[in-house]
Formats: sequence, structure tokens, C-alpha cells
Amino acid sequence: MSKAPALRLDRLLANLGYGSRRELQIMARNGRIRLNGEVVRDIDERVPLTSEYAARLTFDGEAIDPLPGVVLMLNKPLGVTCSHKDSGPLVYRLLPDRWQKREPKISAVGRLDKETSGLLLMTDDGAFLHQIISPRRHIPKRYLATLDRPLRGDEAEIFGSGELMLDGEEKPLLPATLEKISPHEAALTVTEGRYHQVRRMFAAVKNHVTALHRVSIGGLRLPEDLEPGRYIVLDATQRAAIMSGVPDAGALTKSPAEER
Ligand code: URA
Repeated sequence: MSKAPALRLDRLLANLGYGSRRELQIMARNGRIRLNGEVVRDIDERVPLTSEYAARLTFDGEAIDPLPGVVLMLNKPLGVTCSHKDSGPLVYRLLPDRWQKREPKISAVGRLDKETSGLLLMTDDGAFLHQIISPRRHIPKRYLATLDRPLRGDEAEIFGSGELMLDGEEKPLLPATLEKISPHEAALTVTEGRYHQVRRMFAAVKNHVTALHRVSIGGLRLPEDLEPGRYIVLDATQRAAIMSGVPDAGALTKSPAEER
């Protein structure tokens, strides 16, 4: 059986953003770190990086933050940017302050435009991130789009053809599925992640997206009761759902217009 990875407790807590190793020595002396309710003073000890161990550890009486390898689902609000650098509101600021100091850092899994809302995955697990955004995986992503002009009727065929070429690109888009919801609303499922893909697809059929909201990635849906700006930590079942295909039409819940 392979042994669980281990790390010194002060290093683990420092990586989770609780303080420098020096600061943590003092915090430990002050009795702020406990295992099974007992004060831990020796934080140089190596500890297993397992959820079972972490479940027994508290800091100031609270369960410690998720261990490295975390995956979050955020309901991205409008007007925030998926970047570590841009000026203006950033998605990372929606996470607890301490999490800004985590190592490895939590990053967005791909990007949503500033003016797109909905399901955004975030993780500190580089291998997981690459698995999700890999162009070879073709994980379906479903969007609800509100349109400036009524649908013409030929969009589903054009998007599904596998022949649509976006401006400035050399390869046609893979087939995408469009479902009409109303004259000005459609659900579009794409399996690529090209720059501004959905907006550019509708521009290619002489329309304009006025609101865009992502409702699912693979079989993982954004819960209806997850308010914009809120996130949840995914469990193993939810993580596995990402890889498990397209959700049924029940995923078409609120329109982007209703979301605002
Ligand atoms: N397509 C877009 O045009 N924008 C997004 O944010 C996501 C997909």
C-alpha cells in the first residue's frame, strides 16, 4: 500500500496561509492549534496529508481550511475578472482573505469573460486543471445566452455542422449543440474553449449576446441556490461528475436575464 504524503505541520499551515512558520511557532505556544481537542505544541512533526487527519485538526477552534488539492465551484458574478493581475474586482477576492496566501495558489480553471456569469471551477491542483482544460478532453460546457435579435432558425444547423470558422481562425469549430429556449434565448453546449467562443459564434450568425451564463461543465451543474459570488468545495462525487458527460435538459434553469 502506498503511504500518504506527509509534511511538517508548520509547513502545512504556512502553505494554507495561517502565517509564517515563525508566527506559527508562537501561535502553537499560545494553544491555538489542536488535534483531537488537545493542544499541539510540537508543530515540527511530520503529519499525513489526508482528510482524516485534517478533520481532527483545528485552528482557533475552527476546522482547518481544505488541504492542498482543493477544487471549488464558484458562481461567478458579472463584473469580476478571472485574473490574478487585472485592476478591478477579481474572482480571487471572493475567497477568504487567508486563501490568497495559499501555496500552491488557487487559480481559475479556464476563464469566463468579465461580463459572463455562472459556473467557474477553481483549483490549486495543476494536474486537475490541465485535465479539465485540455483541448483533447472535449468536456462539454453549457451556456445560456440572451440575444439582441431573435434566433433566425438556422443557428443549430450552422453550429452543429463542424464547419463554422470564426474570424481570424484557421480551424473550424467542433460541432456545438444549440437549443432554442425562446426567440431571444438559447442554450449552447460547446466542447472547446476558444477565446470569447460563444459571443463570436453568435456574431458569426449576425447576432449579439447581451447576457451569458454558464450552467454546467461536464455533468456538474451550478446549483440553483448558490448565490452569485458564493462557492462550494467539491467532494469526490462532484469532481467525478465533471468528467461524466452532458447533464439533461433540466440544467436549463434560470435565464441570464433572470439571474441579474
Ligand atoms: N464564451 C464567451 O464568449 N465568453 C465566455 O466567458 C465563455 C465562453
